[in-house]
Amino acid sequence: MKKLIARTESISKNSSNEHILEVKDISVSFGGVQPVRGVSFGLTENSFTSIIGPNGAGKTSLFNLISGINKVDAGEIIFRGEALQDIHIHKIAQKGLVRTFQGAKVIRRLTVAENLMMAVQGNPGDNLRGFLNPRARSSFESKSREEAMRRLEQVGLTKFADEFAGILSGGQRKLLDLSRALMTKPSLLLLDEPFAGVNPTLVEKLLNVLEELRKDQEMTFLLIEHDLETVMRISDRVIVMAEGKIIADGLPNSIYESEVVIDAYLGSRRRGAK
Ligand SMILES: Nc1ncnc2c1ncn2[C@@H]1O[C@H](COP(=O)(O)OP(=O)(O)O)[C@@H](O)[C@H]1O
Ligand SMILES: [Mg+2]
Repeated sequence: MKKLIARTESISKNSSNEHILEVKDISVSFGGVQPVRGVSFGLTENSFTSIIGPNGAGKTSLFNLISGINKVDAGEIIFRGEALQDIHIHKIAQKGLVRTFQGAKVIRRLTVAENLMMAVQGNPGDNLRGFLNPRARSSFESKSREEAMRRLEQVGLTKFADEFAGILSGGQRKLLDLSRALMTKPSLLLLDEPFAGVNPTLVEKLLNVLEELRKDQEMTFLLIEHDLETVMRISDRVIVMAEGKIIADGLPNSIYESEVVIDAYLGSRRRGAK
């Protein structure tokens, strides 16, 4: 396994204080399974990095560690200079590190707009003083409704604003999940296969939204994605995982041409495609 490690083009040489996220030698195991084994990388602010790798490589497990759903057994996760290992998951999101899920999480019995409004922090209804101050509450609600409507317009879901989210198709739920993640204007967004199971028209829509967001230069993206064409189009760096480890890390083209990657992952896909 060791000989598989290939830093095809090291583009993560910046010192750690230039990195919005620094993952240092993290591992986790559940019973006899160790889905993440000594993973390290840093993300430069405003970059777009994709993670590829076969099923079961540990990609989602890695996201679970970074976003605080699971805690690391070893290693460190530093976000904006602060260690995250011991911080509660909700606090992590409040700090600007937000993720989406492989199976988009929407609350079916709330309306589409309400699903988005739920994501906003600091709801005055959350604490007693705010609860007793209806004016603060209604002003907050109208602001978050406005933001929700802006987000829905961005992904073309405006006409569903007041429908129950349960009526949305799988693809539309992914759009809603992305909008939910954007409601709090995160500085680092982790996207777990946002395009899987989404029809090509909606994929194009999602990609356009992501490309627009990139232009704003205010967010850093980490994307797990299977489709290489999509990865090549949108990423400025690609990390390849297999068996819980990073086996290659570099510019998209260098990854695409790397022998190590072709052997470990792409080979079967390319052969399959021909
Ligand atoms: N909470 C858990 N308990 C037990 N096994 C887990 C857990 N989370 C992940 N795994 C195992 O870790 C491996 C990697 O899974 P995953 O991270 O979902 O891979 P990927 O997202 O790359 O397809 C799989 O074998 C999976 O069954
Ligand atoms: Mg996964």
